[in-house]
Amino acid sequence: MSDRTSVPDVSSLLSPLDRVRPLIRTRQVREFTDEPVTAAELDALAEVARWSGSSNNRQPWRFIVIRDRAVLQRLAEAGLPQTRALQTAAAAIAVVLPVDPERTISHAYDDGRVAERILVATGMLGLAGGITWIRDDVVGAVRDLLGLPADRTVRTIVALGHPTEAARHPKSAPGQARLPRAQLVFDERWPAGRPS
Ligand SMILES: Cc1cc2nc3c(=O)[nH]c(=O)nc-3n(C[C@H](O)[C@H](O)[C@H](O)COP(=O)(O)O)c2cc1C
Repeated sequence: MSDRTSVPDVSSLLSPLDRVRPLIRTRQVREFTDEPVTAAELDALAEVARWSGSSNNRQPWRFIVIRDRAVLQRLAEAGLPQTRALQTAAAAIAVVLPVDPERTISHAYDDGRVAERILVATGMLGLAGGITWIRDDVVGAVRDLLGLPADRTVRTIVALGHPTEAARHPKSAPGQARLPRAQLVFDERWPAGRPS
């Protein structure tokens, strides 16, 4: 039975490319304004993280939502230059994973999946995010700052906030942010005669 009061789904009028445009537009932001991220927004982002898929649905991760600016500053200082987005972030989500040499690859894969989903979700909320990578030599300091037990580690902390005007601007000239499509996407087979 049709519901006459329901709002028509205008997205179906858009081309497939335009419908996925929010994903294509998802960019890294490393500079944020002073505007806070609300508790409801952080809650929504934590739900996106929690519902991410993982290898065998093991859900190896735990997430730490960080709002304390002093801690964000110390995390930033510990891991520069990779952590520079945390210097101005209003909040962040740390992806905590078990230390398990048997599962390094699957954990790295899971880590990437959840980080990207958080980034996409920030765009849906009118916020922005930036992946910060915690180097091996920085993990000890991060473990202390976040109070992690020795059997847990952090590779990714996603910085969150409202992007500054400058950070909204594209970092590359038009058409330069990604390799040309013909260089990246092939039909059916690796192109004959193409060097690897
Ligand atoms: C595995 C991985 C690690 C990354 N580590 C960092 C990092 O430590 N610090 C940082 O500022 N950006 C980091 N980035 C973001 C990349 O630099 C960014 O995705 C790339 O420059 C493209 O930027 P754009 O999506 O805004 O075009 C990382 C991205 C990935 C996928």
